Amino acid sequence: MPNLLSLRDLALRTARSVAPELARWAGGSLDSATKSSVTDLVTDADLWSEKQIAEMLHGARPDDAIQCEEGTTVSGTSGVRWVVDPIDGTTNFVYGHPGYSVSIGAEVDGEPAIGVILDPVLGDEFVAALGHGATRNGTSIRVSNSTILSEALVATGFGYQPDRRHRQAEGLVEILPRVRDIRRMGGAALDLASVACGRVDAFFERGLAPWDIAAGTVIVREAGGRVCDLSGNSPTGDFVVAAPEGLLSELLSLLHSVDADRA
Ligand code: IPD
Ligand code: CA
Repeated sequence: MPNLLSLRDLALRTARSVAPELARWAGGSLDSATKSSVTDLVTDADLWSEKQIAEMLHGARPDDAIQCEEGTTVSGTSGVRWVVDPIDGTTNFVYGHPGYSVSIGAEVDGEPAIGVILDPVLGDEFVAALGHGATRNGTSIRVSNSTILSEALVATGFGYQPDRRHRQAEGLVEILPRVRDIRRMGGAALDLASVACGRVDAFFERGLAPWDIAAGTVIVREAGGRVCDLSGNSPTGDFVVAAPEGLLSELLSLLHSVDADRA
């Protein structure tokens, strides 16, 4: 078993090596291209950040596997797999809007074990290692103690495909009247970090990829929350729910009742 604290510290050093530069570039004139749809952006900064992160992780631990959103993949033999989103919330980043982050997670033997999410705008560092708790800027964090869905602030996000967005909007028609309010902040990694520190009560989204949730999953769990799919199991597909234990069953029932495909 690798030393989780040294993996955590490597992830933090690596994220810190790119975050200040991203803050300088945000909202500037950057070359960008579209990916899965015209709303799905990738910029030169995403590619630069990914290259820096992958090189630093690979340089420090050449036997680890690496998977990054923009295509970098390295195979490994150590049992450690880094899962990286070099900029989560690229749309926010392009507009110079707060709500983007660098997200570096690691699994050990397939189990989420390390999470580091840096928010260059607020200067927040969310950090967790399995069994060692979760912190924000060095201070322990916990999910909220919310137990009543109608009084819960719930974050969500929307995919990039128009037909999925149509179904997500239909689902929100049912969900919005049943919660305190909805937040759509534009970055799933920070949405999960927000659940972990109680800045929102819960989060759900369909259509997420492993790099969107790898780090945040560990941070929420170490902050005492649950991260699961619609059945309450560890997410294996693209639907992710994060919530305090006391809110989870009511939230899952609501998501089922509005029709899982529309949520
Ligand atoms: C996206 C953000 C967004 C979420 C999308 C993600 P990206 O990641 O996390 O909040 O709604 O599902 O794809 O494209 O900015 O890395
Ligand atoms: Ca991204």
